[in-house]
Amino acid sequence: MFKNFWYAIEFSETITEQPQLFVIGAQKLVLYRTSDRVVHAMSNRCVHRGGSLAQGTVVNNCIVCPYHGWHYQTDGACVKIPSNLPNAKIPIQANMPTYPIKEKDGWVWLFLGEVDRAEQTPIPDIPHFHDRNLRSIHGEFHWQVNYERAIENGLDFAHAPFVHAGAFGNPDAPEVGNLEIEQSEWGASATVFLKPSPPKGLWRFLAKVDRADVKTRTGFLMPNLTFLEVFLPFGSLVIWTAHIPIDEHTTVSKWMNFRSFFTGKWADGDAYRRTIKIFQQDRPIVEAQSPQVIPFDLTAEIHVQADALQLQYRQLRRQLVDLGCLLGMEQG
Ligand code: FES
Ligand SMILES: [Fe+2]
Repeated sequence: MFKNFWYAIEFSETITEQPQLFVIGAQKLVLYRTSDRVVHAMSNRCVHRGGSLAQGTVVNNCIVCPYHGWHYQTDGACVKIPSNLPNAKIPIQANMPTYPIKEKDGWVWLFLGEVDRAEQTPIPDIPHFHDRNLRSIHGEFHWQVNYERAIENGLDFAHAPFVHAGAFGNPDAPEVGNLEIEQSEWGASATVFLKPSPPKGLWRFLAKVDRADVKTRTGFLMPNLTFLEVFLPFGSLVIWTAHIPIDEHTTVSKWMNFRSFFTGKWADGDAYRRTIKIFQQDRPIVEAQSPQVIPFDLTAEIHVQADALQLQYRQLRRQLVDLGCLLGMEQG
């Protein structure tokens, strides 16, 4: 994992005043809202006896440990120890680590790294979230993989005819044309025209389904976002996915899917099933990749022209390693 980035970690609507356990990089945090609707992130392990704050409650905008009821303010300071007699002092060490956290574009973002750099570090834009012509659904999947293999899977054009034959992959046209790569400061995308597979299910009933090549754009934004944009003859489909490293070998990928066609609620189930099906097709393949962690040596695996976007990812990753941005997290 890399430090000094905002990580997309959760859908905004999921966080409530009910404290919630959240694990990233084997570190346990508690996420919760105060009555002003602001989201907060604190270490989950109570400094008193290691109680799990996620089992606690929010009272007067303090998180209250379930074990002995210590109250912690949003800045982590303990302000009440119920067992203390009125003249007893609160130990100054009774302070919980907190983390910068914000909400933007439907996501909750957590900053990991040097806290004083959080404010100057931009949070990526997800413009589709604000487009009222798009219908959105969201979900998540859990894979026993390192998150970077999941990211690279999202950047991989050449696997579609093999892994997604019968969905959008066309086994009769496995060639990947030249990738048009666009770079941004901490990301890149690639556009390519792919031969479509014959439409199935609901999509067969769309008025004008032609067999023109489908413009497809996919990309990543460091540290943990990928997106896929498919320009179908009848509209566009965009999937943003945040890949959250739970530990070295476990990833939760949370996705938001936006579509400009079939924008009624009635089609949500179909859109959901299609998305899940694709991810389920990928899962056994990615879980079986070895080594689980992508090699840091760029020459350790072989790259061909269709892998150009993954290579961009590996190069940026290499750059971050060279800049000393690898994040070491305490287990807790
Ligand atoms: S363990 Fe949290 S208050 Fe005692
Ligand atoms: Fe895939």
